[in-house]
Amino acid sequence: MEKIFLLVFMLSFSTIYAQINVIPKPQKVELLYGNFILTPETKIFFTSETKEIKDYFNSYLKSEFGFELDSTELPHKYKSVQLLVDPVAGTNLNPEGYYLLIDEQGIVIRANKTNGLFYGIQTLKQLIQTDKKTREIKIPSVEIYDYPKFKWRGLNLDCCRHFMSKDFIKRYIDLLAFQKMNVLHWHLTEDQGWRIEIKKYPELTKIGAFRKYDDGTVYGGFYTQEDIREIVSYAESRFVTIVPEIEMPGHSTAAIATYPELSCTGGPFEVGTLWGIYKDIYCAGNEKTFEFIKDVLSEVIELFPSKYIHIGGDEAPKDRWQNCSKCQQRIKDEGLADEHELQSYFIKRIESFLNSKGREIIGWDEILEGGLAPGATVQSWRGTKGAIDAAKMNHNVIVSPTSHCYFDYPIETTDVPKVYSFNPIPDELTEEEAKHVLGSEGNMWTEYAPQHLVDYRLFPRLTALAEVLWTYPKERNYDEFAVRLQSFYERLDEMNVNYTYEIPPLSFAESFDKAKNQFIVDVKVNQKGLDLFYTTDGSEPTVNSNKFSEKIILDRSTHIKFGLFRKQKQVGETIEKSYSISKAKNKKIELLTSPSNRFERGNSSILTDGIRGGNNYRAGGYLGFQSTDFEAIIDLTQSTEINKITTGFFAASSSLVLLPEYVEFFVSDDGVNFKSIGKVKETFSIKDPSWKRIDFSLTINKLQTRYIKIFAQNPTQVPEWHPAFGGRVWLMVDEIIIE
Ligand code: ACM
Ligand code: ZN
Repeated sequence: MEKIFLLVFMLSFSTIYAQINVIPKPQKVELLYGNFILTPETKIFFTSETKEIKDYFNSYLKSEFGFELDSTELPHKYKSVQLLVDPVAGTNLNPEGYYLLIDEQGIVIRANKTNGLFYGIQTLKQLIQTDKKTREIKIPSVEIYDYPKFKWRGLNLDCCRHFMSKDFIKRYIDLLAFQKMNVLHWHLTEDQGWRIEIKKYPELTKIGAFRKYDDGTVYGGFYTQEDIREIVSYAESRFVTIVPEIEMPGHSTAAIATYPELSCTGGPFEVGTLWGIYKDIYCAGNEKTFEFIKDVLSEVIELFPSKYIHIGGDEAPKDRWQNCSKCQQRIKDEGLADEHELQSYFIKRIESFLNSKGREIIGWDEILEGGLAPGATVQSWRGTKGAIDAAKMNHNVIVSPTSHCYFDYPIETTDVPKVYSFNPIPDELTEEEAKHVLGSEGNMWTEYAPQHLVDYRLFPRLTALAEVLWTYPKERNYDEFAVRLQSFYERLDEMNVNYTYEIPPLSFAESFDKAKNQFIVDVKVNQKGLDLFYTTDGSEPTVNSNKFSEKIILDRSTHIKFGLFRKQKQVGETIEKSYSISKAKNKKIELLTSPSNRFERGNSSILTDGIRGGNNYRAGGYLGFQSTDFEAIIDLTQSTEINKITTGFFAASSSLVLLPEYVEFFVSDDGVNFKSIGKVKETFSIKDPSWKRIDFSLTINKLQTRYIKIFAQNPTQVPEWHPAFGGRVWLMVDEIIIE
């Protein structure tokens, strides 16, 4: 008897979750009996206050289902949708809270403010079940009380490293709103591009918005003030606040490339092409810098109604200030202790200017160094210490540490369960101090993500963060979230969102059958619900490609492309693996120069294991040689005919991983006396920030030899403009292939 009761209880419990797949999870949900069927005959009741929500809902119905609801004067809910602003007791009177009642009679959404009605509509949209055949719009009967835990639920989008179109920004505003997020932190100025039109300084977007590569390619773009007004107004209609970020005093190369007189040295500079931390920044001793920034901010606040303006403040090296007479004079005149206090002076001046215009500043946690500006909100990113320190000083904080909130990081370091486990309130804060935690943001830096890759980085990690910020601190259970996520994917599919994996998707185990000269590649799919397909002919995998079932046997060098599919749709980017079966495979290799232990523990056998390094040199498969050449000898054990020698090197200029100046190949019969057989160079500009593996190959004709020596020259000279100038250059080697 008890067992049966428990079973019935469990069934009804699972029914709730089977049907109420809303993300973020509402605070209180009660499933009621039956459904409401929405039809073109359904009416909508609204007031002057709720008209904008009525229009929004109707435009959604129009685009999804091809009809709108006619309005009714009658505030009863029979066959109607009612939109009311009216205090809701069960929502703590939270300004974003709402009450949603759906039963067979109709739908009522009541909210403390229109914001809440908008979120009620977002929940309603997720509850709609459309019959694929009849197109009947069925909505399960339910009663929901809902409100957010955190008021700051944001995304920081870097449109500087890669420019994003106006339509793309609007699409993201919709995606944020759909997940009940309410802040778009718009990163608009950087070393690599100034993206906001400033009428008083038109050169900023003529010069500063474009970067030039050595091959003549020009990359860039900017938003006109008209574009920005359009985007801001769109965001307002979605209850999203756009917080512009105008970086200072660092990350300002694009500005000082345009106006070098605003720097300490006077330049000249070029708009950055590499990622990193540039040493040339705004001069803090020059009054012109402050005039310029005030002029810029005056136009910024005309465009953005946001109470908060983000002024950056991160990663500002003090090298130039230390050697600038103007900056040093300022330190003396103002009685400052050092360059950190000079940065604090800088930020405080800008804060008091913005305060005088009725605005407040947000800065990255570096603004704590040298003394925090009196009213500043601190966004902590280097862990949570900045947030803890600032909150203890009674400053508001946004907690977005690299550990959980940097969605430009690979899924291997920051997977969805980890994001979901994030607690925006550091344990170190008392309940009182914790009130200063406004919320958090997902950070989307775009060094390695042009617009077409942004979805992959953000989804579903941003979805997990949305729930953390709305629903926390309710008990969170990743497995239960993951179930709801499965149906959320259907919504994302409808919105053409290219989401990626929840966890590192594949594990590889390779073995080599010496007798048969074959690789046996075993692959494990780590995430449920995904099917693995692959190609070996260089084409992109589809659901018609080879379906992975057991093992892949390779009897020659092969490049494999793997695609994971959820139903018919590929999830995440294609994963590539390369195997070489050459005369070098498993041959003894002697290194004449020393590798770093940081990569593959310096184990030289990875150079002849036949498993090629991939498109991330940090993920394994490479040996690193820092500030030294690469020199190695391979013993083929007997005189062997060779026709081609290849060595692969990685290029990642921003990280000082550079290609060798040249690679020279030598042969010998005795392993002592070597003879050069040729030098190979590859053209690759140091200004190119791409990450790629480049092969240095030498073709010869039927040469008999036993020993081969490879020498690669480390380029020790790095130009002074390089953001990592002064650092030591790496050569990263992946494999030696002898055919
Ligand atoms: C940052 O990631 N430099 C704030
Ligand atoms: Zn200076």
